[in-house]
Amino acid sequence: MKKIILTGDRPTGPLHIGHYVGSLKRRVELQNSGEFDEIYIMIADAQALTDNMKNPEKIRENIVEVALDYLACGLSPDKSVLFIQSQIPELCEMTFYYLNLVTVARLELNPTVKSEIQMRQFEKNIPAGFLTYPVSQAADITAFDATLVPVGEDQSPMIEQTREIAKRFNHIYGDTLVEPKILLPDRNACMRLPGLDGKAKMSKSLGNCIYLSDSSDDIKKKVMSMYTDPTHLRVEDEGHIEGNTVFTYLDAFCEDRYFEEFLPEYANLDELKAHYQRGGLGDVKIKKFLNNILQDILNPIRERRIELAKDIPSVYEILKKGSITAREKASQTLSRMRKAMGINYFY
Ligand code: TRP
Repeated sequence: MKKIILTGDRPTGPLHIGHYVGSLKRRVELQNSGEFDEIYIMIADAQALTDNMKNPEKIRENIVEVALDYLACGLSPDKSVLFIQSQIPELCEMTFYYLNLVTVARLELNPTVKSEIQMRQFEKNIPAGFLTYPVSQAADITAFDATLVPVGEDQSPMIEQTREIAKRFNHIYGDTLVEPKILLPDRNACMRLPGLDGKAKMSKSLGNCIYLSDSSDDIKKKVMSMYTDPTHLRVEDEGHIEGNTVFTYLDAFCEDRYFEEFLPEYANLDELKAHYQRGGLGDVKIKKFLNNILQDILNPIRERRIELAKDIPSVYEILKKGSITAREKASQTLSRMRKAMGINYFY
């Protein structure tokens, strides 16, 4: 069986460092490992519309932002198919059939969708398309015969539902669809990077993100304003690591080599943590260290992004070519499905 990756993002805003550490970085590594036969990276505009139907302009504008983020991070159109979800109408047809394989009760159990419904205060007015987007996500994944879906932890209920749908389809109509596996970030801290304010999630609407496109000054300002340990008032005070956002980010981004470069008094993160906990280490010092690390990671990404942004038509060309390739693949899978279901009446 071929090894195939599919993953993607909603274009509701430019991507931030939570996306980077939770998924983008890994995607680029997987792409460059050469271990995969096909790699599909999708800009999920149709899914983004499920709660932005009145605001299509926002989604339209952010498609190119997300594409720039992808390319700047090292996803390459020579190795990965970069495409736009709405340009693959086959996905809608698959979704239409899959909707019959899930119950409304099951959809209402999806914990990610549940919390999104709460956050968006839909109450009794949940758009049907929003409640059912995990079904359309199952189409996104199975249309490409994806064996592996690298995503953040919040997406694991979607992969679970996809597996259920694929299993059910195969059970009823015979072996047709691939049941995908999830690939989660390998570091715990990368699973769900908190916002700068320590709130559960980095999110555009909470205004607590560092974006891949942020300037060097913005990054510094944001890091210096980060939430740490409210009981750590003087440098001599004992400090806490748990719930201290600077340390959570260090857990996510730090490599030993950064100590050599930026903070040679310590050999590794454990030593730094121990010092903070026993007292005598100030917040400014750990923030400066984190800032240095983030600048090191983000500077080259930002520079590439600025270069790429000089030629937006080329970016659209990449997405257009990718969408044509993606559509061919999805339409092959759809033919297989129609045949399995016996609705290929004229062939
Ligand atoms: N739900 C994902 C997000 O919110 C985007 C997405 C849509 C996706 N379809 C997908 C991710 C298929 C992985 C696989 O970011």
